[in-house]
Amino acid sequence: MADVEVGPLDLAARVDEALAVQALAFGLNDEEIGIRRPIVLRHLTVPGARALGATTREGRLVGFVYGLPNDRTQWWSTVVEPYLTRAGTDAWLDHAFTITELHVHPAHQRHGLGVRLITALTDDAPQSHSILSAVDTESPARALYRRLGYHDLARGVLFPSAPQPYAVMGAPLPLRRLRR
Ligand SMILES: CC(C)(COP(=O)(O)OP(=O)(O)OC[C@H]1O[C@@H](n2cnc3c(N)ncnc32)[C@H](O)[C@@H]1OP(=O)(O)O)[C@@H](O)C(=O)NCCC(=O)NCCS
Repeated sequence: MADVEVGPLDLAARVDEALAVQALAFGLNDEEIGIRRPIVLRHLTVPGARALGATTREGRLVGFVYGLPNDRTQWWSTVVEPYLTRAGTDAWLDHAFTITELHVHPAHQRHGLGVRLITALTDDAPQSHSILSAVDTESPARALYRRLGYHDLARGVLFPSAPQPYAVMGAPLPLRRLRR
């Protein structure tokens, strides 16, 4: 979409707008937004954490992505590690850039913004590979990640806070380029 620009995002300053996009895209209620807010702000204090936004000409945020270098002591990593160890894929946890969130406003989906956001963010990562978790269903997100070269490192991963199982995926960097 020509009128939407992908570029650096001061996510700490625009966290409420970002969570409003996430609420629409992923489905979050007010209580869940309240829980996510301090988590996002804490993530942004991690050295190497970076965010990009997709912004309309009028300055409205319609998509965002952020991630951080993985550290086996971070909560997310401690939850997924036993699953990856069992699958023999836990080496992916080292020297990895983790995609923590990627969301595009429903009215702007399927115009290539998701790919532009995650590709631009990971292109600037010094790490050799990227990892993430996604709900373990055949969702648009899973389709997008696979097309970019992510494959399953573990499935059926249960986070204490989430009722549904997740898949952990990993891809070498730079991500595969899509022909549109
Ligand atoms: C996942 C998400 C970020 C994708 O954003 P997007 O801007 O619509 O994605 P793109 O337009 O860049 O899509 C790129 C490719 O991903 C795949 N894809 C995206 N949406 C899809 C869908 N609804 N069904 C099947 N494949 C899909 C396609 O291969 C697509 O390429 P194509 O359009 O040439 O076929 C968006 O659907 C979203 O915000 N979903 C809800 C939140 C979410 O699940 N976030 C991920 C959390 S892990």
